[in-house]
Amino acid sequence: MMNSFGQFPQKRMRRMRRDNFSRRLVQENHLNVGDLIYPVFVLDGTKQEEKVTSMPGVIRQSADLLLKQAEQCLSLGIPAIAIFPVIETNLKNLSADEAYNPDGLVPRVVRQLKQNFPELGVITDIALDPYTSHGQDGLINEKGYVLNDETVDVLCKQALTHAQAGADIVAPSDMMDGRVQAIRVTLDQNQFIHTRILAYSAKYASSFYGPFRDAVGSSANLGSGNKYTYQMDPANSDEALWEVGLDIAEGADMVMIKPGMPYLDIVRRVKDQFQAPTFVYQVSGEYAMLKAAGMNGWLNEEACALEALLSFKRAGADGILTYYAMEAATWLNKIK
Ligand code: PBG
Repeated sequence: MMNSFGQFPQKRMRRMRRDNFSRRLVQENHLNVGDLIYPVFVLDGTKQEEKVTSMPGVIRQSADLLLKQAEQCLSLGIPAIAIFPVIETNLKNLSADEAYNPDGLVPRVVRQLKQNFPELGVITDIALDPYTSHGQDGLINEKGYVLNDETVDVLCKQALTHAQAGADIVAPSDMMDGRVQAIRVTLDQNQFIHTRILAYSAKYASSFYGPFRDAVGSSANLGSGNKYTYQMDPANSDEALWEVGLDIAEGADMVMIKPGMPYLDIVRRVKDQFQAPTFVYQVSGEYAMLKAAGMNGWLNEEACALEALLSFKRAGADGILTYYAMEAATWLNKIK
């Protein structure tokens, strides 16, 4: 039909959208199982399993149960898992000594995972918040200020302990200055030249981390404290590029932006400027929102979760840490 001026539209964008086959042919970005990393919470003991109330579907579990999940991840095609420990209160102190205990929870879990499933990538978190009695990511002075260089020394010991246990990737999430270089030098001096560094380069002081802090039990320790003196101001964007540039110069193999969906603009700017392997973390609060709306019947959870994950790829991310990894992998394998 001609318009009221007697003309046909010069170009019909809807032609390619008309059928599934032609929609598929022009699809620009794809979400693959190979993009997903599954974050897991691990407890000491055996046969231990606890639900995380603010993250339905997510559990804290002991290593024996985690091995079963690791096997499922492998069979679904998920390339790697990221381990977050729940540390017993009596092991937390001001100097975070447990962070580099070679027989601590994380090194034990890493050894078990690598023994049983050597082909599954294992990522460990480098930060002191599970180990400090105050829940900050570093050592503090008498005024409560997080000390940079003293913290970096401990982070290096922690990273080396994890590498010795067999971690494939260490992921500093603490936002101290200079930690990527210090960790790289420490690893190299100890012949861990293949241990990769995934740097949480642009990590924002976000309120979307709330459910995670419940999951690892650091919220009680942190109390009314905040992380504003080291994590980034959500108002800033250029500063993220500066941070990423520094981490790449210091030897990061991969950089990460966190949280995810509220920071898609940062993902795009980072990818455009550096073309480095760029990761994004769909954090606990993002997961909780989607879950809650889905459980209430307010959103189609599967469709919305996959749309959110695809949007990370469109923004330029190469990989995505997501609590949806197992479900998303199941959905993606099904859609095929
Ligand atoms: C702490 C850490 C946090 C997360 C990962 N590592 C929380 C924080 O910085 O307080 C958040 C992850 C999430 O919310 O899913 N080193």
